[in-house]
Amino acid sequence: MSDLRIEGLSVTIDHPQRPLAVLRDVSLEVPAGASVALVGESGAGKSMTAYAIIRLFPTDAARITSGHVWYGDVDLAALPEEALRAYRGARIAIIFQEPSAALNPVMTVGEQVMEGIEIHHGRKGARERALEALRLVGLDPSVFKRYPHHLSGGQRQRVLIASAIAPGPSLLIADEPTSGLDVTIQAQILDLISRLQRDLRMSLLLITHSLGLVAQRTAFTYVMRRGAIVEGAPTERLFRFPQHPYTQALLRMATRL
Ligand SMILES: Nc1ncnc2c1ncn2[C@@H]1O[C@H](COP(=O)(O)OP(=O)(O)OP(=O)(O)O)[C@@H](O)[C@H]1O
Ligand SMILES: [Mg+2]
Repeated sequence: MSDLRIEGLSVTIDHPQRPLAVLRDVSLEVPAGASVALVGESGAGKSMTAYAIIRLFPTDAARITSGHVWYGDVDLAALPEEALRAYRGARIAIIFQEPSAALNPVMTVGEQVMEGIEIHHGRKGARERALEALRLVGLDPSVFKRYPHHLSGGQRQRVLIASAIAPGPSLLIADEPTSGLDVTIQAQILDLISRLQRDLRMSLLLITHSLGLVAQRTAFTYVMRRGAIVEGAPTERLFRFPQHPYTQALLRMATRL
């Protein structure tokens, strides 16, 4: 298991007129085995932070301009693309924000969960491993042969979680893992992720725009606004003694909902 330690990370998106600073001097830490939240309004740079960790940006115009992404004693930000590939999916898994876009409509559930396992561990035992992952996320083995459109939104999200955990990552990054789901299903999925994080001894970086969702689910919370971290504190303390006016505003919104 390894700590994740982001230090002074800045990311810029090149534009014809002038570059856009989407991450500005971001520092945050996810200790090994811990669960940490990253919270902030839409456009704050939460997803960019997740993409920057494994350098999988949604646009070619994005680049890291300074800073470090320490994973144990390896600086992922300084690794060549080739070497970074060994980390993506295998040791660091991301559940992306758009569940429907992340699943391939012409592949069965079993094929998709096995794909990541085969890339990192080979074909041998991949089927058993995939079935075990489906069991861990509470899906019936019969979904193995089904296609994504046969499943409900909540089941599809469980498939994505199964794909993420199947290769055995030590760090799970969940980017808005419940967006687009019904409120009751949201709670089930978040509880599932928390349970897996503890049972499989992973570290978790949980990204969400809603402070209300992270209460009682994460040990530490960072608040992000306009590409910068404005505050970070143990979650309980952040709720009781928010220091930054922006955190206070987010809290007022969370309690009003
Ligand atoms: N594909 C892209 N091309 C250009 N700019 C982008 C792209 N994706 C994001 N950005 C810019 O990066 C900034 C940060 O976006 P990011 O997606 O990280 O926000 P977020 O905090 O994840 O928001 P949300 O809660 O809506 O998911 C935004 O200002 C946006 O303009
Ligand atoms: Mg996002």
